[in-house]
Amino acid sequence: MKILVTGGAGFIGSHTLIELYKAGHSAVVVDNLSNSKPESLRRVAEIIGVPEIPFFKIDIRDRDDLERVFAEHQFDACIHFAGLKAVGESVEKPWEYYENNIGGTLVLVDVMRHHGCKNIIFSSSATIYGDPAEIPITENCPKGQCTNPYGWTKSMLEQVLMDIQKADPEWNVVLLRYFNPVGAHPSGRIGENPNGIPNNLMPYITQVAVGKRKELGVFGNDYPTPDGTGVRDYIHVCDLANAHVCALQAIARHCGIGIYNIGTGNGYSVLDMVNAFVKMNNVAVPYSIKPRREGDIATCYCNPAKAKAELGWEAKFGIEEMVRDSWNWQRLNPDGYPD
Ligand code: NAD
Ligand code: UFG
Repeated sequence: MKILVTGGAGFIGSHTLIELYKAGHSAVVVDNLSNSKPESLRRVAEIIGVPEIPFFKIDIRDRDDLERVFAEHQFDACIHFAGLKAVGESVEKPWEYYENNIGGTLVLVDVMRHHGCKNIIFSSSATIYGDPAEIPITENCPKGQCTNPYGWTKSMLEQVLMDIQKADPEWNVVLLRYFNPVGAHPSGRIGENPNGIPNNLMPYITQVAVGKRKELGVFGNDYPTPDGTGVRDYIHVCDLANAHVCALQAIARHCGIGIYNIGTGNGYSVLDMVNAFVKMNNVAVPYSIKPRREGDIATCYCNPAKAKAELGWEAKFGIEEMVRDSWNWQRLNPDGYPD
């Protein structure tokens, strides 16, 4: 299939491009580079062994630009990663998050349908479950109260896409609810490249390990979890990338609406991750216990059985590969991608 990948220069998008090409698909990337660098696409092309990845530096909110891309290419489906994703920033700048994530998706979907492309895979998030009503979380778990505007954009966009599919059954909509993506391509050539101080656990750990930050703050050790620190379902980004290829098969079968949790089903605490990282990579990660972070929940991991049964997808990599590949990327690229 020929796939439009929005946000393809970013962390998950760049890894997904590799899986798409490996599976025999082709891709065209649109990205405004607001949170990425074109170097990621250059390295993806190098890993795949192609001269370049077709790329348009455009903003998906710009209808004319998007129309031009669709005029040049006939797409079978869109994998829609483009969006702003920093939880804390979304609390400070709610308008920007709603406008970019919801506004951008509305323009995208409208241009898609005008061009007869009615297949979309959307990057959703475990955050839509709020403080989950059940653990492990299945797709039947009710959506919850999000604690920030970023989460609401995901929750609302799920609803928007489901309503559009309901009104026009020619659409196939796959909502992939990612748990906590970590790791990097084993080559160490592409990975996560956060701007400024990382919000997420794994990039913070790697930046401490490489000496860019003094110590990790562990946000709370009094949660009702085995060691008191927060438990999450970390998933290797290459496994996550592969889930999109499997989701394309569901689209080819005209699935209508498909909703899937994409995680490993294993919950690891903050200290589990730190200890696994230190042991596997033989580097020090000093840390100290800090107060709980506002909006955090104690435990979040999924039951990924539905994705296995219906998409034939399951995670192959475990915690050791996650911490190994996260470190490999950081060690080889201490300052991320060059400009
Ligand atoms: P990322 O920031 O690395 O990639 C997103 C890309 O979208 C960036 O390259 C950015 O430049 C681009 N972009 C943003 N707004 C755009 C716009 N208006 N027009 C064109 N391009 C635009 O993030 P990621 O970690 O790769 O996440 C990809 C998707 O998965 C996002 O939608 C994110 O919300 C979702 N998600 C991520 C996580 C996570 O922990 N990384 C978890 C759940 C869901
Ligand atoms: N944590 C620390 N110290 C840090 C960073 C994180 O102790 O410096 C802890 C958190 O308190 C939490 C765990 O590490 O217990 C994971 O935190 P992350 O920020 O890495 O991930 P979250 O589960 O909070 O949220 C992430 C994304 C959200 C997404 C959610 C579910 O940031 O966008 O996963 O997919 F919605």
